[in-house]
Amino acid sequence: MRALRLVCYKRAVSLVVIENGEVQLGGRPIFRDLSLRVGEGDRFGIIGPNGSGKTTLLRILAGEQSLNGGTLQARRGVSTGYLPQDIDLAGGKTLIEFVLTSVPGRQEQAERLAESQAELERRQQAGEDPASETMMALAGRIADAQERLDHYDRDFSEFQAMRILAGLGFEDGDFGRDVRELSGGWKMRGVLAGLLFQRPDVLLLDEPTNHLDMPSVAWLSEFLKRYDRAFLLISHDREFLNEQVSRVISFEPEGVRVAQGNLEEYARWRAEQAAVLEARAKHIARERERLERFVERFRAQANKARAVQSRVKQLEKMEDPEPLLLERRVMAFSFPPVGRTVRDMLKVRGLRKAFGERILFSGLDLTLRRGDKIGIIGPNGAGKTTLLRMLAGEAAASAGSVDVGAGVTIGYYAQHHADTLDPGRTAYEEVAAVDPAATETRIRSILGAFVISGDDVNKRVGVLSGGERARVALAKLLASPGEVLLLDEPTNHLDMESSESLAESLASWDGALIVVSHNRSLIRRVANTIWNVEAGAVEHYPGTLDEYLDSLRRRWREERAHGEGAPRGERAPSAGAAAPAPGGGDPGRGRRGSKDEERAKKRRDADRRQRRAQRVAPVERRVRELEQTITALEAAHEQHTSALADPDVYDDPPRRDGLMADLAQTQRDLDAANEAWEAAYAELEEAQAALDAEDAAATPGRVGGRS
Ligand SMILES: Nc1ncnc2c1ncn2[C@@H]1O[C@H](COP(=O)(O)OP(=O)(O)OP(=O)(O)O)[C@@H](O)[C@H]1O
Ligand SMILES: [Mg+2]
Repeated sequence: MRALRLVCYKRAVSLVVIENGEVQLGGRPIFRDLSLRVGEGDRFGIIGPNGSGKTTLLRILAGEQSLNGGTLQARRGVSTGYLPQDIDLAGGKTLIEFVLTSVPGRQEQAERLAESQAELERRQQAGEDPASETMMALAGRIADAQERLDHYDRDFSEFQAMRILAGLGFEDGDFGRDVRELSGGWKMRGVLAGLLFQRPDVLLLDEPTNHLDMPSVAWLSEFLKRYDRAFLLISHDREFLNEQVSRVISFEPEGVRVAQGNLEEYARWRAEQAAVLEARAKHIARERERLERFVERFRAQANKARAVQSRVKQLEKMEDPEPLLLERRVMAFSFPPVGRTVRDMLKVRGLRKAFGERILFSGLDLTLRRGDKIGIIGPNGAGKTTLLRMLAGEAAASAGSVDVGAGVTIGYYAQHHADTLDPGRTAYEEVAAVDPAATETRIRSILGAFVISGDDVNKRVGVLSGGERARVALAKLLASPGEVLLLDEPTNHLDMESSESLAESLASWDGALIVVSHNRSLIRRVANTIWNVEAGAVEHYPGTLDEYLDSLRRRWREERAHGEGAPRGERAPSAGAAAPAPGGGDPGRGRRGSKDEERAKKRRDADRRQRRAQRVAPVERRVRELEQTITALEAAHEQHTSALADPDVYDDPPRRDGLMADLAQTQRDLDAANEAWEAAYAELEEAQAALDAEDAAATPGRVGGRS
């Protein structure tokens, strides 16, 4: 049995194989020609813009949806665990029960093992080749199940379940709570805990970091690094994903690409690919132009008929260049200016919120002034969403007041779009409902800014992808923004470019806003004031996120020097500093990067001009000179022939012979010139191709250059 198992692992059996997979939804192709092989321990990252089909692919692998074309084959008995993008959890179990029962019990596992063993024996007796694919797979499965059972008490103990729950931020007091009571973000963690506990052969995670605070993202990152089974992970958080994966599935405008390597390597490859395609297309265009020029020039000449014919053939045989890599449409919008308003836009006095015994806040005093851009940070469960909902008038306070300044209206963006969007309505109807006076053109143009156009505006909210739904919610906000915006995790579900575009619009807007987010690059770019919500209090810091984190570190050092314990906020900045920034890179770095890029491009262009002058230009000159010679010789040839056609000349033998000799010489010269021209021409092409290849190799990442 042991030997069999070894062989089995060496052969790296495929767990799931998709060949030429194709999916259509609502009559529109989502992807086609997708071939994918998931082997044991493979670590895939899935990237692509909102609505490109990432979730669809996971649903197919999870068996929740089927292909419209192609095949999917899974090794028998492969277990998959799926964390959907939107969690819907029925209640009736405590959190710890929920996690423990996510794996079959010891008894059930033992029965399954016995079944597999019986099948193996049956097949052996029937004389089946022990090295056959099925037998190997069966043996491997038995060994796996045996090992699972051997370590059942260790791997599937209540202790292990609690460890995972604690890692995801649950506290001891939560273990006995009914899962139904948990908030959306915590439900998601509950399901994730169950999956991590099960350790399925193939783990499918759809944007698991969306609802996680920084320490939990860091924890998940560490967990996945040690995870030794296969997983496919969707995330718009580039840094997080890059650390985890060794293969990439990318939904590109031209189709799905599957590649080896992490995200950085993929971006590099993609940039090279773009440069090579561009160089190739240029080369083909030039080649075609030259052949056409030749045909055009010599078409009328009988003695060139063969040369012309061969070029015409060459032209016919010439392939069209492969299409260049398409650029994606990116969401781009700006909120309308607000103009003059009262100074105090929102005033909170003595605000208190309690759920039964549990007091979330007591006696909060906060003021939002004109020009304030507040970034709310703090751990999950601190009450950030509840605070925002009370400010928006969506939830009642237990005591205290929220006063909205005269002439101020509030726009609110909820964390869970299910709270504000009706799954039965279309995207168009949702936006139209906010501003009933708006014309169809205006509604379409608002949706268009969020890359929802054409027939897509008539899609029902219920079928939209996570990111598309987020865009509809943003479009509603744009249709009627008000003077104050309250935004709860607005970059969740948005692809990277869209997150950046949103940050840009918020940063340049003149209204006041409060944004709750775990996305550090968003808070960095937008906030001029930080509210840290933690342990029932709101700490107000008049400065940017980096200034705030610096001040915390300073305070912490000082307090340590005075022999005091770590301050309340210590966990957040240290974990924050270590954790990846959801939603992508540092904006400052991006700007610097693009300036450097520009400079590098100028250098490259100058260098290219110089190389051209040295290597291509002389050959080009020779080609042109030869063309002039040919033209002159052709004229002479023409003169001699027409002279010889004159009957008088023909009747004058010495003159005729002289002309004949001249004609023969001209013809020889012409042949030689043509030959030289062709050689020079070939040399020119070579020089140009070499230059193109060098340029392609020297052009840095276009795709990756953004982050
Ligand atoms: N029943 C349906 N009818 C029509 N279109 C559908 C249906 N279900 C899904 N779609 C569309 O299929 C596309 C792919 O959706 P999918 O959820 O796979 O995208 P995604 O890549 O996960 O996007 P996101 O990053 O926003 O989560 C979307 O444009 C979505 O609107
Ligand atoms: Mg999705």
